[in-house]
Amino acid sequence: MRFLTGGESHGRGLVTIVEGLPAGLELPRDLLESELARRRRGWGRGPRMAIERDRLEVWSGLRDGVTTGAPLSICLENTEWESWRGALDPHKVDPEKAEDRRIDCPRPGHSDMVGGIKYGHSDMRNVLERSSARSTAALTLAGTVARALLDRLGVTVRGAVTSIGGVAIEDPLSEEEWTRAETSDLGCPREVDEKVLISRISKAKEEGDSLGGTFLVSLWGMPVGVGSYVEWDRRLDGRLAGAVMSIPAIKGVEIGGGFNLAALPGSLVHDEIAVEDGEIVRLSNRAGGLEGGMTNGQDVLVRAAMKPIPTMRKPLRSVDLARGENTMAHFERSDSCAVPAACVVGEAMVAWVAASALTERFGGDVMADLERRVSELRLETGRDRRE
Ligand SMILES: Cc1cc2nc3c(=O)[nH]c(=O)nc-3n(C[C@H](O)[C@H](O)[C@H](O)COP(=O)(O)O)c2cc1C
Repeated sequence: MRFLTGGESHGRGLVTIVEGLPAGLELPRDLLESELARRRRGWGRGPRMAIERDRLEVWSGLRDGVTTGAPLSICLENTEWESWRGALDPHKVDPEKAEDRRIDCPRPGHSDMVGGIKYGHSDMRNVLERSSARSTAALTLAGTVARALLDRLGVTVRGAVTSIGGVAIEDPLSEEEWTRAETSDLGCPREVDEKVLISRISKAKEEGDSLGGTFLVSLWGMPVGVGSYVEWDRRLDGRLAGAVMSIPAIKGVEIGGGFNLAALPGSLVHDEIAVEDGEIVRLSNRAGGLEGGMTNGQDVLVRAAMKPIPTMRKPLRSVDLARGENTMAHFERSDSCAVPAACVVGEAMVAWVAASALTERFGGDVMADLERRVSELRLETGRDRRE
């Protein structure tokens, strides 16, 4: 499976094209819309989240709500396009409107300056429009499709926020806490932590500052042996890390115990193997469900670190590149904290990698065949289904 996205932040809309999906997968409209709504969540989101509507149209690959095997094209219309059209029209812009939207003062930490150098743009509007995190709505759509496929195979993806701006909260432990994290506006497993996070975000917002944080994504019910130890680019840990790291502002990814494992002796790290009631079990899951780049039947655990948002109401020092003068960075409406939203995008990317790897392992033309092969393997190995 592969997917491509196109579209600009304030352009006509976003496009996601997914190719290689099995035929026979149900994709109801409300399912496609539900994850987009979750991506808009969070306390520190910018004003755009209140305006954004995510009007979605499927252009191909679906008939009567079921995939046909043809490329699935989904368009997300930008409801504000008419007010930006003069400045961004693909064929003819209005020079005055384009001048109004011109960006000369790059934001440190964003793509503005380097993107401008790379593509020879003196107006960094051309960079901002594509590098904006609006594009993560297109990633979320691809991930939602992948989630639907995983769902049919009994695999569940869930995410939870685990820290914001240095305020750490405990990982979800129970089923109830995971469910709460999924539905909470802050991605928070426990209500009691929400107040602390809200006051941390509100303080940063008042100060015109921004915050990052961490989130955890888990994958339940993956069959054993998905991924590979034989070549670097087939290892599932590498693919998951690459996909999650590709999300804008993600600067660290850990599998299982991750960086903490480096400080511990092997005796406190590796997950011992035992027999209990005739079944082979693990006594811990510090490996995060992956050994040798393959799923081992335990929950797959991926944690990511997001840096603070680069656009700040109290901007950092920068340079007006048109005049060559010291000044402050460009500001336009922005999130001050997007960790809960990034968590939804993280779930989407983990779902995407898992679904792709499953179709590679079990074949991906017809959904019913894929389902049957996964069940057969589960019956053989017996111990990789979450009871
Ligand atoms: C869900 C989400 C929302 C984001 N919202 C904003 C935002 O409103 N303003 C902003 O400057 N950056 C935002 N970012 C981060 C930037 O897109 C990112 O920092 C930028 O593209 C540069 O990429 P890099 O941080 O990976 O170097 C967001 C990221 C994500 C994942």
